[in-house]
Amino acid sequence: MAIREVLKMGDPRLLRIAVPAPMLGNPELASVLQDMRDTMRDLNGAGLAAPQIGINWRVVIFGVDSNPRYPDAEIVPYTELINPTLTPIGSELEDGWEGCLSVPGMRGLVPRYLKLRYQGFDAQGQPIDRTVHNFHARVVQHEVDHLDGILYPRRIRDLTQFGFTDVLFPGQELDDD
Ligand code: NI
Repeated sequence: MAIREVLKMGDPRLLRIAVPAPMLGNPELASVLQDMRDTMRDLNGAGLAAPQIGINWRVVIFGVDSNPRYPDAEIVPYTELINPTLTPIGSELEDGWEGCLSVPGMRGLVPRYLKLRYQGFDAQGQPIDRTVHNFHARVVQHEVDHLDGILYPRRIRDLTQFGFTDVLFPGQELDDD
């Protein structure tokens, strides 16, 4: 188990285009996934992309359990997704608040496709093919953006809707994502 340092916005390693990850039982991949799991859980994040711990591979993990503080939040099954591709379904966008472990203490209102299909592979090399919408779709788009060197502030259309979490949402004790 290893909790890794999460790179913060401003680090040029977060701006790289990640390369396809090796698969089929690659021991290094298993180790990277273990570190990503440990790091995301330690920070109580909703998702983490390999570039955020300095690994330039197309690997993301995400998942949101039920949380008594947010009874209406959708549950997103814990997923390890390797070499993903996203295909938006329709052109409808929806604004929603996002945070990021690489942009700690802040939130911004970000437009994302409401519905999309994502494909890729799990840690055992088995294909993943899901069609999702709303919050699940948002989380995947946020994480896969990291693989293309994009942090969510670049997606904000109205920068008045970007600020410190404790100022925007006082008293809510929101985690960094
Ligand atoms: Ni992020």
